[in-house]
Amino acid sequence: MEKSVISLDQFDAKSILSLFKEVGRIKKTPFKKLQNILKAKVVGLLFFEPSSRTFSSHCLAAKKLGAITIEFQNMMTTSSTVKGETLEDTIKVFNNYCDLIIMRHPQMGAAKRAFDVSSVPIINAGDGAGEHPTQALMDLYTIFEHHKKLDHLTGLFSGDILYGRTVHSIIRGLSYFPGNTLYLLSPRQLRLSTEDKSIFAKRKIKLIEIETEKEIPANCHFWYWTRVQKERFKSLADYEKVKNRFILTEKLVKAKAGKKTLLMHPLPRVGEVEIKVDEDKRAVYFSGLKNGVYVRMALLKLILTK
Ligand code: NCD
Repeated sequence: MEKSVISLDQFDAKSILSLFKEVGRIKKTPFKKLQNILKAKVVGLLFFEPSSRTFSSHCLAAKKLGAITIEFQNMMTTSSTVKGETLEDTIKVFNNYCDLIIMRHPQMGAAKRAFDVSSVPIINAGDGAGEHPTQALMDLYTIFEHHKKLDHLTGLFSGDILYGRTVHSIIRGLSYFPGNTLYLLSPRQLRLSTEDKSIFAKRKIKLIEIETEKEIPANCHFWYWTRVQKERFKSLADYEKVKNRFILTEKLVKAKAGKKTLLMHPLPRVGEVEIKVDEDKRAVYFSGLKNGVYVRMALLKLILTK
């Protein structure tokens, strides 16, 4: 296990599956025993961008393992960033307090910048339109739990493929396993970047861009819906043109989903998933959230104790 988690590019099939083994062990360990694993370790949560799930699940993961936490939300308005402190300096400061830093930042590449100056491991909890490795590992774990494999899968990603950082990390993860085919349904403006396309062209993954719901293949193993990332747009008018072009409706599920198609979404949703779909047994966007805590516990344990 590498010490920092910046990108899914650092992983391979073996390291993903061995992480999942650790998740299985953690799930079975009684709470009392978990409490000693990171005793006296200090985990810093430095969040420069809004977060509900990612912040609280990392925080809970650290605390369940007995770590002490330093919790910083809204850093753009409450930290020395307001006074003009650079990200690099902030990281050098927190290196004195923490054994590990979990960081979210609005700029793509910020996690790598932090890693470059940090003397302690960095976990990327989202860097702009870049990546979101821990969310991806949690989503991959949910797929693995239901389908018992991460190879020979057919999946659909819908919504914002260009700015959706969770999608970028999941595709990277699935690219290490043979036989995966992913359909990418998005408005033309929100397709995968040319940089990412050329990276994936060299890997064993088949990506098929589609433009209409009609082209969704039958019996996908999962559908992964995403929010159009309003905060990444330069113009609100451009956002308005493409927001909610694709909506996960009960009707679409009936027409196109298979019996075992997992209905996934990293949340928050802002209109692109009909509330009615929540009742569907295949919908795992709420029930799968616990996996996020276990996966993050496994990562923290592997990084800080091995
Ligand atoms: C995602 C994110 O922040 O990238 N949310 C999350 O962490 N669960 C998805 C999003 O904000 O749309």
